[in-house]
Amino acid sequence: MDHFDYRDRTLFCEDVPVPELAEKYGTPLYVYSEAALVANLNEVQTAFRDANPVICYSVKANGNLSICRLMGQHGSGFDVTSQGEFQRALKAGPAAAKVVFAGVGKTDSEIEFALKNGVFLFDVESEQELHAIGAVAQKLGVKADVALRVNPDLPPKTHVKTDTSVKGVKFGLDIETIVDVAKGVVGHPGLSVVGLHMHLGSPILKADPYRMGAEKGLGLIKQFRAQGHDIKYLNMGGGFGINYRKDEAKPASAFADVILPVVKESGCQLILEPGRFIVGNAAVLLSRVVFTKSTGGKHYVIQDAAMNDLIRPTLYGSFHRIWPVAPAAGVPVTPDVNGDPDDPQPFREMPNCFKQDVVGPVCESGDYLAKDRPLPGLTRGDLLAVFSAGAYGMTMSSNYNSRCRAAEVLVSGRTHRLIRRRETFADLVACEEDCLT
Ligand code: LLP
Repeated sequence: MDHFDYRDRTLFCEDVPVPELAEKYGTPLYVYSEAALVANLNEVQTAFRDANPVICYSVKANGNLSICRLMGQHGSGFDVTSQGEFQRALKAGPAAAKVVFAGVGKTDSEIEFALKNGVFLFDVESEQELHAIGAVAQKLGVKADVALRVNPDLPPKTHVKTDTSVKGVKFGLDIETIVDVAKGVVGHPGLSVVGLHMHLGSPILKADPYRMGAEKGLGLIKQFRAQGHDIKYLNMGGGFGINYRKDEAKPASAFADVILPVVKESGCQLILEPGRFIVGNAAVLLSRVVFTKSTGGKHYVIQDAAMNDLIRPTLYGSFHRIWPVAPAAGVPVTPDVNGDPDDPQPFREMPNCFKQDVVGPVCESGDYLAKDRPLPGLTRGDLLAVFSAGAYGMTMSSNYNSRCRAAEVLVSGRTHRLIRRRETFADLVACEEDCLT
């Protein structure tokens, strides 16, 4: 729990008691620790420092402007996947920020926007896209720097919905044909093929896929160079896993151990696109118990955060630790990994706890943050912390059921600042025309 710990039976974020934040900003509330964000970025920078890497924080994990700005201030570039994310990076980062642009469906206008705004590299995902970028660049009278994204065809390594390097997914160029595609643009007046990109999937808990991917990449780089392409960059993407449970994840150095030797041999500059590793464990989602209820032999705790605030449990069956912000006497103060369906021993008795489903107010049976989770008895008004919620939490939130999106607050030492205000009804209907009145 990075910079989130219990003192005297109360959860603190850095030096701020979390109940103080709930009181001031309301719930549901995303609470970020600035120290954790910076420490996680530093961990990647340090682990890979021998390669003098370009770290491009992946904006899709969390695009809040203050978080992007913090990343820029600490030397990160940005990995974006849409013009909107690109605009966030430009707004938040220093003018020289390096932006890499991935995604399978870049439109001509997005390509033009990127070229006009100094994109560092396009990560190209198909032959048609490569030619579209070449055409737009020629129209503008410039040459676009591109990295070809390869699908290295590795064995499955994470959730099927987020594994991006197995055969048949929509991402990247097939490893069997990428060399021919590269050959087709040798000497292209609008394109410089200067890099190889891959993003294996997310989250990845083992280093081995990176070793396999990098080694396959090395072979491709040699072939591209033989064709006459001046390959300067090897982009290994993001995907480094984090501890959602206890200590299942690897430190950044474990990934560096397998990636750095290949980078050295390639003579390329390394690019990385970490998102989850930086922001995932730097936040909790804070919620308040609305009601409790028992039915059909099950116990429910109904709290005010729902699938529209954090969709990962519903969408991927993801596990997030959940624990009271102020556990009562007799209840352990450390949230256990207990209740994880993937755990070989999924339920262990805990003092004064019983199995409960943590659900939200949305009108779907799939609206839950946890199922069969050992939790102490809770009462109306109790605060809960949903841990490891910083990545793909707020960015995947929605207004389903006309729920206003949560607020976000950034804690630094003893201070806290609102970095996104809570939405209002006016925000919900801001884009609509009430034209039949
Ligand atoms: N680079 C590319 C090209 C990506 O597609 C992604 C994530 C990243 C970097 C950053 O990956 P990270 O370091 O954050 O693992 N919504 C899912 C995760 C989707 C990841 C999409 N791509 C989840 O909540 O688990």
